[in-house]
Amino acid sequence: MITRRGFVTSVGMSAVASTASHFALAEPQELSFPAGFRWGCATSSYQIEGAVKEDGRGASIWDTFSHTPGKIADGSNGDIACDSYHRYQDDTQLLKSLGANAYRFSIAWPRIFPNGRGKPNKKGVDHYNRVVDNLLENGIEPHITLFHWDLPEALLGGWQSRDTAKAFADYAALMSRQLSDRVKHFLTMNEFRSFVDAGHLFGIHAPGLRLPIAEVNQIRHHALLAHGLGVQALRANARHDIEIGVAENPSPPVPVIETEEHIAAARAAIRGSSGPHLAAMLEGRYPEDRLVPSARPPKIEPGDMEIIGSPLDFVALNVYTPIYVKAASNSQGYITVPRPASFPTMSLPWLMVGPEAIYWAVRLTSEVWKPRAIYISENGCSADDVLRGGRVDDTDRVMFLRNYLFNLRRAITDGYPLKGYFLWSLMDNFEWAEGYSKRFGIHYVDFQSQQRTPKLSAAWYREVIKRNGLA
Ligand code: GCO
Repeated sequence: MITRRGFVTSVGMSAVASTASHFALAEPQELSFPAGFRWGCATSSYQIEGAVKEDGRGASIWDTFSHTPGKIADGSNGDIACDSYHRYQDDTQLLKSLGANAYRFSIAWPRIFPNGRGKPNKKGVDHYNRVVDNLLENGIEPHITLFHWDLPEALLGGWQSRDTAKAFADYAALMSRQLSDRVKHFLTMNEFRSFVDAGHLFGIHAPGLRLPIAEVNQIRHHALLAHGLGVQALRANARHDIEIGVAENPSPPVPVIETEEHIAAARAAIRGSSGPHLAAMLEGRYPEDRLVPSARPPKIEPGDMEIIGSPLDFVALNVYTPIYVKAASNSQGYITVPRPASFPTMSLPWLMVGPEAIYWAVRLTSEVWKPRAIYISENGCSADDVLRGGRVDDTDRVMFLRNYLFNLRRAITDGYPLKGYFLWSLMDNFEWAEGYSKRFGIHYVDFQSQQRTPKLSAAWYREVIKRNGLA
């Protein structure tokens, strides 16, 4: 099946049950996280901000896409969303009441460069200065993503044009000059596959194109080049020591059985599933034959791969759904095991309940690329939340999160350099092609009144943060 997160396949294992029993006898200290661990939530600009015409913001490709009939499941768009452009102080208070010490959010590039390039828009820059100050005043560390898919429409040709990579570098340079006196953590991009392939191959995300794979690979190359140029621009313009990373979703391979041969298969599989992205950025080269199976390679100019491989301070992983792999004697060294129809999912068909995915995402990334630091930049689920008597008892989300966190704790025991966890999401928001029909928040949003109500999962997460460990 093709979904926005690619091919979803797996083998049936009682993931939740096996995880729970594995940890049933854990000693209390094994349930805590290291001192200084970052606990936060994540959001992105187009999904929460609204105010799309305000203070000089230019159009983004998502404005156009979401207003195109038939593209969004419930016919909605991000014109208002959670109205966070106006309510960012309230959102900070939601984080504060959780006890969060970090917040991952993104900047809307078209607020900064409404025309894609040229003169920056002071009102847009001022807005993010205020957001950052407000977070810091409340003891919350901003982790900023520069590109979470809302590309300025004014950049003609979009990612098909190599010039877009240069425009991104100018934008990154400006944000570094403006914010790096107070912001330490910057992420260049969010999930290449989701905007490159879902946007240009499958046509289910903006800009809604269905191009031949060779052209998609050229787009991918431009996006990776933008990342590399962005890393260099961020660093060159930093006013203090900053840490730079990228958020990627490697579709974590889980070995069907934890034996050395299947674990080796999982290592091969993570290079396979993330090859064109993580391997390109962390190794400075496209893995042979893995760009996309049977695809024609992009045109690469001299020096491009060195730029794409610019050193990073951390890798951030968005972890939702696993693939299950086992060793095979084929040229790849692994096969992906098909998912049985009975595999448990949350309220989206691609979102399997596979808590061990988060452990393997960290472990395999560490073993294969040895980054200095790893963050979980997203983890969470959609659920069929119902607001009843002022409460949302999302026991299914609590179950989901608790089991993923148990598995994440295992990565600490093993000594991987895991520094923080950002739950997706702080509140219900515009879930791309699903519109508002899928809720991922730990705060329920009434999109008429904009009232935010903490769900049971918010109370649970507050307790986790307070204990710096599992609750
Ligand atoms: C993504 C995102 C988020 C999604 C979330 C749930 O990568 O898709 O970063 O924008 O809303 O992952 O699907």
